[in-house]
Amino acid sequence: MSSPAPVTAADVERAAVRLDGVAVRTPLQRNARLSALTGAEVYLKREDLQPVRSYKLRGAYNLIAQLDARERALGVVCASAGNHGQGVALACQLLGVRGRIFVPRTTPRQKRDRMTALGGTALELVVTGDSYDDAAAAALAEAAASGAVLVPAFDDARTIAGQGTVAIEVAEQVEELGRSLDLLVAPVGGGGLLAGTAAWARERRPGWRLVGVEPRGAASMAAALAAGRPVPLEHLDGFVDGAAVRTSGLLTTALVAACGAGVTAVDEGRLCTELLALYQTDGVIAEPAGGLASAALGDGVRPEPGSTVVCVLSGGNNDVSRYAEILERSLVHEGLKHYFLVEFPQEPGALRRFLDDVLGPDDDIALFEYVKRSTRETGPALVGIELGAAADLPGLLERLSASGLTVQRVDPDDPAFRFLL
Ligand SMILES: Cc1ncc(COP(=O)(O)O)c(C=O)c1O
Repeated sequence: MSSPAPVTAADVERAAVRLDGVAVRTPLQRNARLSALTGAEVYLKREDLQPVRSYKLRGAYNLIAQLDARERALGVVCASAGNHGQGVALACQLLGVRGRIFVPRTTPRQKRDRMTALGGTALELVVTGDSYDDAAAAALAEAAASGAVLVPAFDDARTIAGQGTVAIEVAEQVEELGRSLDLLVAPVGGGGLLAGTAAWARERRPGWRLVGVEPRGAASMAAALAAGRPVPLEHLDGFVDGAAVRTSGLLTTALVAACGAGVTAVDEGRLCTELLALYQTDGVIAEPAGGLASAALGDGVRPEPGSTVVCVLSGGNNDVSRYAEILERSLVHEGLKHYFLVEFPQEPGALRRFLDDVLGPDDDIALFEYVKRSTRETGPALVGIELGAAADLPGLLERLSASGLTVQRVDPDDPAFRFLL
């Protein structure tokens, strides 16, 4: 790995001074559910309670506040999937700097509206392209053409130092409780938060264990660490919009490697179950990237019983329309929802027999749809069954095979079947 970026604990501490009165010292809250799950004392660092509902204000403000008068007059430009843009928007408004933010069309309406509201007249939002990469290319071209300063979302020493200020607060807050931290778990997109945290902790709290958590479908930091340099992922699952980064940062990867932080991945289905638990049990609205750290507990990350653990809940900008998909993915992950293609004979009573003979007492039909073979002819029915308990599946499969119907099991994650669902 090439030499690490020069982000020191002192850089992070200077960033904390700049951010005083700008970023909120967010609460550190003990979480009873996660503590019971792991046997450890688990706390959530509630970065969803920042004024921009994510920690992204820290890095953006730390960078823009260091620009000189000439640079400020030229204005700033950035690309964002939604949260970094909100940090830049508020920083521009507070510092009186003009900003242009490029977002892809996939950025949820909720995040676009928040950027416009936070930036006020200082901000221009440009919607372009279908992916974050398209927006990043447009922002780069704009910076080259206009001379405006690019504000990178993660791969810049000033951004990294700003995000690292989360670690200083965590140390203070844990120690105010009379404890010392054993494990800090943070989400990873491009790696700005993990790299900044690691840069500070390496010097100031070398005993901390640090683990970064990526979505399984966007594990670009793990790929970079394995290859010894950032490499683009061939396939990228965009579900965790805040952390779906195709290529990890050069500086962030070097810092994470140099500091010896670990990286793990969480299944999107497991993450959805955690997002629902945060919502239903804890009363916390987390966006997918915000739930990554706590989703890894009891899965890839197993803390020592009795140890002190902090998970960074990094953001809460969740569009309400996403909960239907979150619920669906969670049910599939929990083994509670299953899909089948069933050929029903064209005779009266076929469906009634299916309901009587195949469904168990606690099972429900959650979806029933004939698949069109052509405009004239219908094919098999796509049947979604929700079970009362995951353990009921073998019984259902036995009854299906005894029914005499032609049945094919459908894996909802199989791209060949995605168009059906
Ligand atoms: C809520 C949230 N969490 C985590 C991340 C990951 O960011 P990083 O690039 O700092 O790893 C992002 C990035 O946008 C985010 O918005």
